[in-house]
Amino acid sequence: MPRLAFGGDYNPDQWDRDVWREDVRLMRRAGVNLVSLGIFSWSWIEPDQDRFDFSGLDEVIALLHEGGVSVDLATPSASPPPWFSEAYPDALFVDHLGRRLGHGSRQGFCPSSPAYRRRTAVVAARLARRYGEHPAVVMWHVGNELGGYNAHCHCPTTAEAFRTWLRARHGDLDGLNRAWGTAFWSQRYSAWSQVRVPGSAPGRLNPAQQLDHYRFASDELLACYRWERDIIRRRSPGRPVTTNFMAGTFKWVDYCRWGPEVDLVTNDHYLTAADPEAHTGLAFSADLSRGIAGGRPWLLMEHSTSAVQWQPRNTAKRPGEMLRNSLAHIARGSDGACFFQWRQSDSGVEKWHSAMLPHGGESTRIWQEVVQLGAALGRIGEVAGSTVAGEVALLWDYENYWALEMGGRPSVDLGYAAEAEAWHREVWRQGVVCDVVPATASTDVLSRYRLLLLPAHYLATPETVRALTAYVHAGGHLVVGPFSGLVDRDDRLHPGPYPGALRELLGLTVDEFLPLRENTTVTLDNGLTGRVWAEAVHPADPVGAVRTAVDARFADGPAAGGPALLSRRAGTGLVRYAATRFEGASLRALLAGALDGAGVGSTAPGAGDGVEVVRRRAQDGRSWLFVLNHTEDAAEVVCGGVELLSDTAVAGRLTVGPGGVAVVRESGPPDAG
Ligand code: GAL
Repeated sequence: MPRLAFGGDYNPDQWDRDVWREDVRLMRRAGVNLVSLGIFSWSWIEPDQDRFDFSGLDEVIALLHEGGVSVDLATPSASPPPWFSEAYPDALFVDHLGRRLGHGSRQGFCPSSPAYRRRTAVVAARLARRYGEHPAVVMWHVGNELGGYNAHCHCPTTAEAFRTWLRARHGDLDGLNRAWGTAFWSQRYSAWSQVRVPGSAPGRLNPAQQLDHYRFASDELLACYRWERDIIRRRSPGRPVTTNFMAGTFKWVDYCRWGPEVDLVTNDHYLTAADPEAHTGLAFSADLSRGIAGGRPWLLMEHSTSAVQWQPRNTAKRPGEMLRNSLAHIARGSDGACFFQWRQSDSGVEKWHSAMLPHGGESTRIWQEVVQLGAALGRIGEVAGSTVAGEVALLWDYENYWALEMGGRPSVDLGYAAEAEAWHREVWRQGVVCDVVPATASTDVLSRYRLLLLPAHYLATPETVRALTAYVHAGGHLVVGPFSGLVDRDDRLHPGPYPGALRELLGLTVDEFLPLRENTTVTLDNGLTGRVWAEAVHPADPVGAVRTAVDARFADGPAAGGPALLSRRAGTGLVRYAATRFEGASLRALLAGALDGAGVGSTAPGAGDGVEVVRRRAQDGRSWLFVLNHTEDAAEVVCGGVELLSDTAVAGRLTVGPGGVAVVRESGPPDAG
């Protein structure tokens, strides 16, 4: 593997042979050292069932090898060819209304289809046998963004697979009926044949059934991945196998459970063009990728050099933005920066999507910036393998994401992902790195943090509650957002007064949830403003044994006079509860207080708003400070060492121009002089 990977998806089958040589020449020019090859090449290498033609791929791999470009070889399972759909019509995807969809895009298959699994096994085995020991092939890329379009198939095969999965989870029908609460609306099942994938129905669907369906669907996709991975591992020992995640932007795969299944966590991230502060969403996705990777380095497999083509308004990146984005991912633990895609397509759906080599070729601004990026990564290669460790962590959980956003909750305005991103963004704004770690992390992992954030933890398992309780009792600080701790894994209420499983730890009871009308606010007696939500809270558990402090009260609204912010010492730690939803300046104030209370300070105090400063550390004691100036003014950061991009010494103070970046190999503690 290269030190810092630099390259992109490479689709030579879209081009004539003479272009391939030109590609390799230009890759060398830009310093490209890794390409993800053949992600959508199934119909190229197997033009008809069992008729294989590897001549093109042989040639391309040889050319890349000659040019010193390593290959992350893909299995083409993301896009079965037309012959597959014709031969196996039952393998085509069925939507939630029961309509079998046709061929003509990608991921048009059912993940549970036996025919799909059989044919992906054949092509993966052929590829791995042919190239498994090839010196150019350094990594394997299974499929592409699994589940992106086809996570929830509703065909009869899927229904059967779902029933098998449910039998394993619940044992018998009694277990299933209990877990799904089927006494409600007369849904009691008397035979397995009656159990279906929740899809369309005139009214709302059973929430426990939906949760199981989402878990099942994520597991089915994981089974597709494992299936191909194991075939490859047997034939290509020692080479990492991965598949590219969409951490933070995709809901239907439980990447926290998938993390241990890949040899290297890889992630795709695209900026939300409509968000002027999209770089904070980038930070969230990167921090979550690192969390899924257990804190180890990961790899940015895809981002864009400039505009995408699939958002409503696809704005171009400004000069310098691609470099800043790339270094922002690397600052947060990525060992490289790769793109979709190497050469911009001249036909097909994505021809208006930017690439490393644009339609206009070498004279374009984007190409020039790609060449500069390659050079920059060459200069900072020494950071590869080092890690990032925040002192604050936000706990992230896909089951909560699904459960809270299922509908039928007190307010549509309380979402899971939006809450998590908003809290993370406010911590980002305070110059603090916020790890995003799976909520199932061990007590050992949690104990590394001074502060934990739990913005919207509606579904609480006994394991998480135990881990959080131990964490706080051992001295940790915890902030919990509203509507948390209420239901178990089956979306069934925890017994006793709200907030159920968290009642004891928080030392309070909630009498009633009092969601607000759209666009209305509540004011607190400390000047903060809440939106969306209020609760009627009592500051002690029903036994009255716990003393919980009321830090602020609602000054108006449906809970006027009642506690809005509470805190409680437990063991040597502290837990805070917010009985309303904050945003903007109020959320900032809440989190600033929590950071302060936990003794967490900015990585670079005084660096200013919009200036991102992140430190990577190596085991041998070296450290690097990444400075990313997202503002239109120059920024100053106190640090000392060598700035690697310009190879200049920094003694005490570093100025980074508007939109600029710097990577400083630090020399001992910062010198304020
Ligand atoms: C990704 C996908 C790529 C390409 C890209 C465009 O989600 O993996 O194949 O479609 O989006 O932004």
